Order: sequence, then C-alpha cells, then structure tokens
Amino acid sequence: MLDSVLERIDADLEAAIGRWSELLKIPSVSTDSAYGDDMRRAAEWLVATLEPLGFSVEIRETDGHPVVLGHHPGPGGDAPHLLYYGHYDVQPPDPVEAWHAAPFQPTLVDGPYGRQMVARGAVDDKGQLMMWVEALRAWHAEHGELPVAVTVLIEGEEEVGSKNLRPFLERAKDELAADVCVVSDTTMWDVDTPAITYTLRGLLYAEVTCRGPDHDLHSGFYGGAIANPLNALATIIGRLRDADGRVRVPGFYDDIEEPSREELAGWAALDMDDQAFLEGAGVGVSGGGEADRSLLERLWSRPTCDVNGLIGGFTGEGAKTVIPTHGSAKISFRLVPQQDPDKLVRALREFLDNETPPGCVCDLTIHSSAPAIRVPTESPYLKAARTALKRVYDRDAVLMGCGGSIPIAAWARDILGIDTLLMGFSLGDDGMHSPNEKFEVTCFHRGARSHAALLEELRPKSR
Ligand code: BES
Ligand code: MN
Ligand code: MN
Repeated sequence: MLDSVLERIDADLEAAIGRWSELLKIPSVSTDSAYGDDMRRAAEWLVATLEPLGFSVEIRETDGHPVVLGHHPGPGGDAPHLLYYGHYDVQPPDPVEAWHAAPFQPTLVDGPYGRQMVARGAVDDKGQLMMWVEALRAWHAEHGELPVAVTVLIEGEEEVGSKNLRPFLERAKDELAADVCVVSDTTMWDVDTPAITYTLRGLLYAEVTCRGPDHDLHSGFYGGAIANPLNALATIIGRLRDADGRVRVPGFYDDIEEPSREELAGWAALDMDDQAFLEGAGVGVSGGGEADRSLLERLWSRPTCDVNGLIGGFTGEGAKTVIPTHGSAKISFRLVPQQDPDKLVRALREFLDNETPPGCVCDLTIHSSAPAIRVPTESPYLKAARTALKRVYDRDAVLMGCGGSIPIAAWARDILGIDTLLMGFSLGDDGMHSPNEKFEVTCFHRGARSHAALLEELRPKSR
C-alpha cells in the first residue's frame, strides 16, 4: 500500500511546496499581540487544509491563541490511534535587517543539498508539520482513508512556552485519547542520517526585576550611599553561576538523573564534530558551560542558566549620570530529567532573597515552565519509526538527545498517559529562531516519505 503513496508524494512535491509557502506567508508570531489576527488566520488555514483530508476539525479557544483540533476515525478495528502534534506559531523575525529576503515572503534558494525554503517558520514548525500533513494527504488520496485513527493537535503558543496547552490537555483529555503522540519538531543527525530524539530538556523561564529608589537619582549626589538596582541585578546574575559554569541556585543539581554509561558510550560513538558545531555558532571556541563535560553532555544532559535579555536604566545616546529605579533580566534555565520546575522556582526565590542587597527588592515572575522528558527507546512506535526511516534513508536512525524543549512531550505522558515519538528532519544549520531560517526541500520531501512509511508500519496488517 505504501508504494503508490510514496509515488504520489514525489509527484506532488511542487504543489506541497506551494501549500507550505501559503502557510509561511501568514506571520503567526505568538509573542507579539500585534499579530493576533494572523494567528487566527493561520489556525483557520490549517482547518481548511485538514478538512478535505477527511478530518472533522475545528478551532478551539484557549485563554491564549487557539488550538486546531481534528479527528479522523481511520479504518476502525484494532488500528492504533496517533496524536499528531505541531505548532503553527513562529518566533519573531527580528533582527529583520539581517534577512536576505522578507521573512514572511518565502523564497527558494539553491544550497549544497538542492533547494532550501527560506522564511520564518520554514522548519520550526510549519515545514515540519506540513510533512506529516502531506503524508496524510497522499495516503487519503491513494486509498480514500487513513490506515490508522488520527487526532491532530496544532497549537499556537509553543514558542512562548505552551502556557495554555496544559489546561487544554486536562480539559480535552478524553477527546485526545490516543496510543502515541507523534511530533516532528527536532533535528536529524545530518542530511543523510535520520534520527529519533529520545530526550528533551525542559525549561523554566523567569523574569527578575530588581527595584531600588522610587525615582531616578543623581548618581553623584547619591552614588555610594544608595544601592543601585542595576548593579545589584548584575551582581545577582554574576552569582547565579560559579567560575566552572555550575548553577548556584540551592539544590539545583539534587534530583538530576545522570545518563547511563551505555548512553554516554552511544553519544561518544556518534563522533560529534565539536569544532564544526562551534563554528556554526560563529564563535569557534567552547565556553560558558561545565568544562569537564563533553559537548553533547553539556547540550543534552546538563542543565543551564542563560540570561536572554536585560532591560534597564539609561540606554539613550551619550551619557546620563543616574541611579535608575529598576532593571530586569529575562533568565531561562534548561532542565534535565527529574529536575522539578516548581521546586526550582522556590529555590530561585530563596536565592534572590539571600543575594539582594539592602535597599533593593527583587520581584520574580515565571513566564513558563515545562519539565524535561526522556522517552522509552524500546516502544513499538519507536521501532516502527526506525523501520520507516531505514526504508526511506537506507540507513539506521541515530538516537539523539536534544537541548531544546517541547513542552507537550512531558504533558502527553503525565496528563494523557502516552509516550511521544520525536521524529524530526531539521538540520543543525537550519537557523531555528535565527535570521534566514531555512529548511532543505530534500529534508521536507524525505520527511514526508518517512511519515508515510511510518503509517505503513503502524497499519494493522490483517487488513
Ligand atoms: N522546535 C523547537 C525545539 C528544538 C530546539 C528542537 C532546538 C531542536 C533543536 C521548539 O519550537 C522551541 O523552540 N522550543 C522552545 C520551547 C520553550 C519556549 C518552552 C525552546 O526550546 O526554547
Ligand atoms: Mn518548534
Ligand atoms: Mn521554536
């Protein structure tokens, strides 16, 4: 049953690229309220795209951006039930001047592996979600039905921490019942080596605002007598990590589950090109983490603390001598398995209380939090994915960790009681969240083929 589906995917590639471009033209930036109408347009576009594939699908409201939820009954009987997850929101395009073409005007350019689609969201996650949509489309077109039962859940707030997804999953738990959650939002090992990701780091995103005097002060009249909240904030940030890059929040490392010896050996066998990775960041030397750990360990199994933004004080042209009233830092912590985000919030609060000088007060706001996840590597779904990938790439899939976060994975386990299959096709140089984000057309194409092959593997064989 698969061959004709694959042939259809091949023959339909240009039309698929056209559909993918349509979605990319909608600037669905979740973090910026100016794009509210575009968010809804993107959700509506997805509803209109899924309906002709036999889905009963609709927009569901949340306290934030809406989710798209669709159901396809599949063949009935003992067919497995897959929950496909994706996100239609994208990161802001800034700095816009760094793009070679307008970020929401998708363009195809030639690269070393053929054509590349360049646009914000090209890979994260519009390109990756359209791969499985195209696989479902081809299957539906060839056979008039889908080989498994399918629920589709596409949210609009992943890039801002999926804050309204958790309550949605709790509310819609029964309707979301499935055997496994399928996600394409991670990377491959390289363009010819497919991968299944089995660990994701979690994320705790905090904002610390340090407040001092109730009005801006002359830094000569008061300087030395009154604590400057920006100095205090800088000191606090400095004390968050020690000289070896270890986070100093009390108890931060207490619950961490270390990777096993076999896992570490597996990672070492991947023969990671550290230098190429560092050059890809435009830096070329390693720094900022735990120097006694390998690069992959630091990315996949160690927690971090990064300042993502600093706001405060006089930032105009020239000089102004002032002790400002307040300053803020956006600080995120990547988490690893068994670290409890709620416990860390309490520890961070305690840390701030201990480190804030007299005359200043630190407010702590939590923007989002999601625990890390490790999915079992022996599940029948992972096995099916390995077989499918082998079929398309003629090469064994690599088992990878991922330093990034996708909140649904932990919640699918904790709320829906199912594991997540992370089968992604992005390359390390795709520039997720960066200017000139791109996705290789060959990755998109082979990704769609892989999703079709996965359906073949999971289809009940008695039929
Ligand atoms: N697709 C990424 C996750 C990812 C990052 C996969 C790097 C592979 C490599 C996802 O859209 C993302 O950016 N997630 C956010 C989640 C956060 C806001 C909770 C992240 O990791 O920062
Ligand atoms: Mn993503
Ligand atoms: Mn992202």
